[in-house]
Amino acid sequence: METIGRNDPCWCGSGKKYKKCHCHFDEKLHEMKQKGFLVPSHKFIKNQEQIEGIRKSAKINIAVLDYVAEHIKAGITTQQIDDWVYEQTTSQGAIPAPLNYEGFPKSVCTSINNQVCHGIPSDDIVLEEGDIINVDVSTIYHGYFSDSSRMFCIGEVSPEKKKLVEVTKECVELGLKQVKPWGLLGDMGQAVHDHAKANGYTVVREIGGHGVGLEFHEDPYVSYVSQKGHGMVMAPGMIFTIEPMVNMGTDKIFVDEFDDWTVYTEDDMPSAQWEIQVLVTEDGYEVLAY
Ligand code: MF3
Ligand code: CO
Repeated sequence: METIGRNDPCWCGSGKKYKKCHCHFDEKLHEMKQKGFLVPSHKFIKNQEQIEGIRKSAKINIAVLDYVAEHIKAGITTQQIDDWVYEQTTSQGAIPAPLNYEGFPKSVCTSINNQVCHGIPSDDIVLEEGDIINVDVSTIYHGYFSDSSRMFCIGEVSPEKKKLVEVTKECVELGLKQVKPWGLLGDMGQAVHDHAKANGYTVVREIGGHGVGLEFHEDPYVSYVSQKGHGMVMAPGMIFTIEPMVNMGTDKIFVDEFDDWTVYTEDDMPSAQWEIQVLVTEDGYEVLAY
């Protein structure tokens, strides 16, 4: 337990007195812990100044994805998308978070059709009519991280693929509805999974979401095959992503043995993903990036 006096400065760094800041919060956290729930550690809780910084980063992330949305079309290469992302991000004084992240060579992930995630932009990959593509953008602005991704349908897409893209978006929206202070991450995860299953789809188990804000990938790991009543407590000030990868066929995946990044579905069937970055608030949630 904390040994912090009621009149001491709060641990969150707000500069306010503990009793006027996270004192109540800690009581609630303690109560949940006593009941046996997994509670977040203080380092997962962002203060107002950090939230404001992350919000600004997220605004840039959204603007970059808006730019991609306006320009993406059949005939362009995924390298072209990478160029746009680099240019749009740096021109706003920000840095693309993927660039050189654990050796990732580009500024954005572009994952087409049977690619699940972490596709590497290339001059050799040309978008074709009928493709579905995930563009996953992450931004660092004044040290604050944002992360979100969208799907794009290139020209006329088969009804099956279109449905996969739409249902995956609904999965994220249904998960989002479960985000509330003192709720559980498992409630959110199950809502995502249930909707995917109800449509005959599977959800990737090995890769999920994450805390984000002061780092690109922070704890906790956020699963979308988790169960209601389980998982970490969502406390106000937590920021994490909802980014399920939904597969039309098997949930089994593999990593490209040559580039060591691109993740594919084992059965070559299409996969879709949308990602939002969400803040848990006192009375619900705020979507920071989408
Ligand atoms: N943006 C991805 C995510 O949603 C992470 C990509 S890691 C990278 O978590 F290195 F490939 F960029
Ligand atoms: Co993410």
